[in-house]
Amino acid sequence: MAKIALLAGDGVGPEVTAEALKVLERAGKQYGFSRSELSDLAIGAFLHDFGKVVIEKLTSLPGDHDVENLVKEHPTFGYLIVRDSNNASPISCQIINQHHELQNGSGYPAGLEGENKSPVGRIKRKKGTIYRLAEIVTVANVYDNLVFNPYSEKQLSPTEAMKRILEGKKKLYNMDILSKLTKIVSAYPEASMVRIKRLVGGSHSNVLDSYLAVVAKNNEKNLQRPVIIVIKDKYGNKITPQVVDTSTAKIVDLELIL
Ligand SMILES: [Fe+2]
Repeated sequence: MAKIALLAGDGVGPEVTAEALKVLERAGKQYGFSRSELSDLAIGAFLHDFGKVVIEKLTSLPGDHDVENLVKEHPTFGYLIVRDSNNASPISCQIINQHHELQNGSGYPAGLEGENKSPVGRIKRKKGTIYRLAEIVTVANVYDNLVFNPYSEKQLSPTEAMKRILEGKKKLYNMDILSKLTKIVSAYPEASMVRIKRLVGGSHSNVLDSYLAVVAKNNEKNLQRPVIIVIKDKYGNKITPQVVDTSTAKIVDLELIL
């Protein structure tokens, strides 16, 4: 299964990792999805690579196999099997079918294009475009592959993975979903508490070492450099809140504590 998993650009065979499911659940909740939408999303994500079972069977038969092209059919095989089992909603089935489709039409199996819009509200989908819930699984899948792929020589940290996805593949993924994922998997999630171990230069004038702050906003260009609001001094005393954009500082060392 390892070879097929890698060829499909997926990390862990037919299953999705628990970590990816957690990310998906948080993304769904941030979008304010209903219970039924969350259920469609979770089932589609959980079964997204089910079709690899068929590819594994086919390639185990005697004879030569064009594995690279065959593996591109795993979304279709998975879709057909799950659809015919009547155990998943049509949306979950489409998630399985479309989880390798990309915004610019370079994905597979159908080469559908995305509209690069937020996956919320009443969505009138243009014919031939990707379902928005499938786009969420696509983004979670590529992130999962970079961070948790046991077959990869180097697994990236969540921040490194997001950096790579944002830098190199903007035309491939739904940007609204990428932005949401950035907020979820950041080293310093928004609204979390951090201790300033060292902060030199930038928009602040005082020495703030050992002060406490709340993360106000992520900087999508550098997830290590959020905007923070300093709220307590190094003795734990409340101070007048001070907004600090750490992206302009010379040295930043923050410790996530909550
Ligand atoms: Fe896949």
